[in-house]
Amino acid sequence: MNSVSATHPLDLSQGVQLVIGASGGVGLALVEHQLQQSGELEMIAAARRATSSSELADLKQRYPDRLSVVDVDITEEDSVESLSEFVGDKRLRLLINASGLLHDKSHSIWPEKRLEDITRHGFDSVMSVNAWGNALLLSMMTEKMDKTVPAIWAALSARVGSITDNRVGGWYSYRASKAALNQILKTASIECRRRYPHLIIAALHPGTTDSALSKPFQANVPTGKLFTPSFVAAQLMNVLSGLGPEQSGGFFAWDGQAIEY
Ligand SMILES: NC(=O)c1ccc[n+]([C@@H]2O[C@H](COP(=O)([O-])OP(=O)(O)OC[C@H]3O[C@@H](n4cnc5c(N)ncnc54)[C@H](OP(=O)(O)O)[C@@H]3O)[C@@H](O)[C@H]2O)c1
Repeated sequence: MNSVSATHPLDLSQGVQLVIGASGGVGLALVEHQLQQSGELEMIAAARRATSSSELADLKQRYPDRLSVVDVDITEEDSVESLSEFVGDKRLRLLINASGLLHDKSHSIWPEKRLEDITRHGFDSVMSVNAWGNALLLSMMTEKMDKTVPAIWAALSARVGSITDNRVGGWYSYRASKAALNQILKTASIECRRRYPHLIIAALHPGTTDSALSKPFQANVPTGKLFTPSFVAAQLMNVLSGLGPEQSGGFFAWDGQAIEY
């Protein structure tokens, strides 16, 4: 199996960077990791309710000049348009979409165990955030990427989105949404080879990470296999900085191993 080579690491310690889903477990850790790593980068942290996040407000106090916080709903065109206006003339060295939806009990969304559990509402909701939201971002935000240097566009996928790797079944909507996301990223990477030759597009699997998303399913995780968000953020940044243009469109796990679609 292919894995990431770190022979020519990309410089992801500079420029303007955007993390979406920045109020979540993985997203927040990515924002903090990047701000800690380098005093030379400017970070934009976005999520649906980013400006209500106390964790992002704390980070803003620590990095008042280098962090800005903005709300975006990636499923809504008007909202992504506002994000695009917020970025303005700046060009992004790194964009990571770490948003995602697996469950939301208050809106009757829960991963299906069997065929009879599938609902139109659950399927549409999960597809909307995990697949459509990424397609909309790519459609409206790719032009914001820096064309003059190697730049990274990454989205948090999940190993369960791999059709080849599906051994235990279940979780129809989430699996389908992540498989769709992977296809969207792969397809965009082919188009961008010509239009944005320095842009590297990647799907990432973070491993099982301690967050609100994984909380209800942590009981069966073997000891040592539940990662902290800060560990995952460092691993994912290490993976991304080892990618080259020939790996654009690939799907990579937290340890750099390529995952089959
Ligand atoms: N945790 C794991 O074990 C695990 C494993 C494999 C893959 N993943 C993937 O990794 C990513 C991050 O997961 P996580 O554990 O950090 O999840 P999380 O803690 O639940 O965070 C999810 C983030 O997504 C944002 N979000 C949801 N809907 C949105 C929308 N419509 N527009 C903008 N932002 C939206 C949330 O913002 P608000 O709170 O403001 O809505 C939040 O910031 C997800 O794509 C997930 O599928 C996670």
